[in-house]
Amino acid sequence: VPHIDAGRFRADFDALAEIGRTVQGGVHRPTFSDAHLAARAWFLDRAAAAGLETRVDAAGNHSATLRSPAPEAPTLLLGSHLDTVPNGGRFDGALGVVAALEVLRATQDAQLVLPCSLEAIDFTDEEGTLVGLLGSRALAGGLTPDMLQAPRGGRPALLAGLARAGLTEAQLADARRDPGTIAAYLELHIEQGPILERQRVDIGIVTAIVGSRSFKLTFKGTAGHAGTTPMDARDDAGLAAARFVVGVHDTVAWDFPNCVATVGRVTLEPGAFNVIAGEAHVALEFRSAEPSQLDALEDALLFRAREAETLGRVEIEPVGRWEPVPLDSTIRSAIARVSDALGLSTIELPSGAGHDAQALAHVTPSGMIFVPSAEGLSHQASEQTAWDDCLNGAEVLLGATLELAGVFAS
Ligand code: GLV
Ligand code: MN
Ligand code: MN
Repeated sequence: VPHIDAGRFRADFDALAEIGRTVQGGVHRPTFSDAHLAARAWFLDRAAAAGLETRVDAAGNHSATLRSPAPEAPTLLLGSHLDTVPNGGRFDGALGVVAALEVLRATQDAQLVLPCSLEAIDFTDEEGTLVGLLGSRALAGGLTPDMLQAPRGGRPALLAGLARAGLTEAQLADARRDPGTIAAYLELHIEQGPILERQRVDIGIVTAIVGSRSFKLTFKGTAGHAGTTPMDARDDAGLAAARFVVGVHDTVAWDFPNCVATVGRVTLEPGAFNVIAGEAHVALEFRSAEPSQLDALEDALLFRAREAETLGRVEIEPVGRWEPVPLDSTIRSAIARVSDALGLSTIELPSGAGHDAQALAHVTPSGMIFVPSAEGLSHQASEQTAWDDCLNGAEVLLGATLELAGVFAS
C-alpha cells in the first residue's frame, strides 16, 4: 500500500517555502516574478528527480505525470498553484502542489498500477495577479479573449509577464485538454478561514466554491493646490473614493448578509501631501455563492459608486468574473470515507476563497479537501497550518486518489 513519506514531504514543503521567502516569514511569489518562476523550476526538478515525466503546457501550467500502462487511461489531475498574493503565506497553493507530487511518488514507490494516469499540476496565475485562474481556465477551455483584453493586473503587466515566462497570448488557449482525457480533479488546500479550527475538525469537504467579480473604478476629480483651494471649492477624487469604501461596507453589512465585498487597493493621483487628488483608482471585489446575489450586489455597489462620484465622473471597468460552482458528490463521499478510515473527523463546508477547482468543475468531476488554518489567517505571512494537519490532508488526498482512480477510470 502506498504511504506518504512524511520526511520527504516536509523537506520539500520547507525547501519550497524558501523560494521568495519574506522577512516576515511568508512568501512573495506573484505570477511570473523571478521567485515564482524559480518555484516552478524547482517543482519540475523535484519531479524529474523522482523519475516522473514533466511537462509545461501552452498556458505555462507545470506538470509531473505518473503514467498508467492501461491503454487510453484518462488522467486524474491533482493540482494547486505556486504563485502567491503579494506578501502571502507559505501554505496557500504550495501545500496542494507538494502533496500532489508526494502522492505520485508514494504510488510509484509502492509499484501500484492504477487505471488512471496521475498528474500533479501547478496552475498558472491562480491568485489573479494578472488574470486569475489563468492556467486552469485555459486547460478547461474557459479562457476567453475578453479576459485577456481587460485583466485584473492590467494588460501591460499581462503581456510583460507572458514574455518573461516565454508564453504567447495567442497560444494560451492551446492548453485546452479534451475533457474525455481527464478522469477528475482533486485539490488539497488550507481552509483559509476559521471554521475547521473552531469546530476542532481535521478535514473539510468542500461543497461549493463562491463566485466573485472584480472591477476597477476610477473616480475623476480636479487636482489642485492643497493650501489655496477652499474646502468648499474642491473636487476631491480621494473623498469620492473614501465615500465609496464606506458605502461598499454599509451596503453589504445592511443588505447582503451572505456576501462579502472588499476594496483592497486605493491609489490617489498624483499622490502628494500638497495636491488635492485628481484621480482615485479603486480595486473592488465581491463574492457570493448565489449567482442572483452577485447580480443584485453588483447593481447595488455600482449604484454606490455613482452616488459617491463628485461631478458625475466615475469610470467602471469589469476585470474579472468567476462563477460559483458546486463540487462533485461522488468525490465528496470518497473524501468522507477515506477520512473516516484514517480516523479523521470531517465536516462539509463551502469555500469563500477562489480555487482552480472552480475552472475544472465545468469540465470534470472536481473535489477539494481542506485542512485547518490557524486563527483562520491567510493571504498574509503568518498563515499557518499545523504540520500534522498538512500530513492528514496529504493522506486523505492519497486515499481519495487511489479510490477515485478506480471510480473515474472509464
Ligand atoms: C484566491 O485565493 C482568492 O480567493 O482570491
Ligand atoms: Mn490558493
Ligand atoms: Mn490565495
